[in-house]
Amino acid sequence: MPHQKLSSLCIFSFILVSFSAPTHSTQITISILHKFKEAPKFYNSANCPSTTLINNDNNNNNDNSNNDNEDNVCYENDIHVAMTLDAMYIRGSMAAILSVLQHSSCPQNIIFHFVTSISANASLLRATIANSFPYLKFRVYHFDDNAVARLISTSIRSALDCPLNYARSYLSDILPNCVNKIVYLDSDLILVDDIAKLSETPLGQDSVLAAPEYCDANFTTYFTPTFWSNPSLSLTFANRKACYFNTGVMVIDLDRWRLGDYTTKIEEWMELQKRMRIYELGSLPPFLLVFAGNIAAVDHKWNQHGLGGDNFRGLCRDLHPGRVSLLHWSGKGKPWVRLDANRPCPLDALWAPYDLLKPPFSFDS
Ligand SMILES: *[C@@H]1O[C@H](CO)[C@@H](O)[C@H](O)[C@H]1NC(C)=O
Ligand SMILES: *[C@@H]1O[C@H](CO)[C@@H](O)[C@H](O)[C@H]1NC(C)=O
Repeated sequence: MPHQKLSSLCIFSFILVSFSAPTHSTQITISILHKFKEAPKFYNSANCPSTTLINNDNNNNNDNSNNDNEDNVCYENDIHVAMTLDAMYIRGSMAAILSVLQHSSCPQNIIFHFVTSISANASLLRATIANSFPYLKFRVYHFDDNAVARLISTSIRSALDCPLNYARSYLSDILPNCVNKIVYLDSDLILVDDIAKLSETPLGQDSVLAAPEYCDANFTTYFTPTFWSNPSLSLTFANRKACYFNTGVMVIDLDRWRLGDYTTKIEEWMELQKRMRIYELGSLPPFLLVFAGNIAAVDHKWNQHGLGGDNFRGLCRDLHPGRVSLLHWSGKGKPWVRLDANRPCPLDALWAPYDLLKPPFSFDS
């Protein structure tokens, strides 16, 4: 079911943390830098568009990127990809990055934008990415998750939602203005097709974003009876053919987003949620409230979802019928956890080739 995707990343990391010694995060800090192999260099094919620098004098609309020594990111014809980055999920992120590069015909035209928590060690994360991908064009940005935490109602926060999940609502602020379109990707997925095709998903006359839509999912369940029984709130979706959509794979027109100030619209729903409980789960429902029924559809082959299944019941999922361009381990289980535990699901074998973690016996001793 698509709704299993909700907050699954954070639920999972909470479990990891809660079973670890108090020194866990220190250990991660010390060890992740040299844990990963170097990926090969990937080259553009002959017919890739050349990328030209856009004049960038006024392009940084905030100064939180801490990127003094990093390359300019304002190139025309580049494909921009945004992901969140934290020490807990970096193994998944690395596999996702490798899969994007490996299946791209113009890998040198891709720029990655990594958003980290303000409390994360960004220089460590940056060094870890740079060690494995010395040729990658990327930037690391701080996301002030303390600011968003104030907007998240406590009931939801104790339900293990993670402020970094909300970073996707702030990409228009976080990224430089010269980035006008972004492909947002979760960390628990791999692409097996050219990201250029995903990036070219038509947004039509006025859609702000494209995402895989699931109109079979029972939309009612994402909101509380309080919401549906309120005469004005329940009209939110009137005249919209609102369907659930997955926010883990999105193509966002950042110019349209900025123009419509959609970050504020999302925040307004979060403010309301703090005053009266209108939905159960974290970062997804505000997206649905603002966009459902008005998005462009991403072909479902770009979200073969639910492969995480359920770790507790040991349930493995199969692919959905149809083509496969992206495998998404949404759900509670993650392939690297099952592989490490020697209890992989059959499809986890498709994730394994992208794992850059060095084999256990080659850890720095
Ligand atoms: C951040 O990571 C760097 C290694 O890149 C390390 O030298 C530094 O001590 C770390 N800072 C903190 C606050 O943990
Ligand atoms: C959708 O969910 C609501 C509330 O859980 C339920 O009352 C309704 O019958 C469901 N609709 C369908 C078509 O399953």
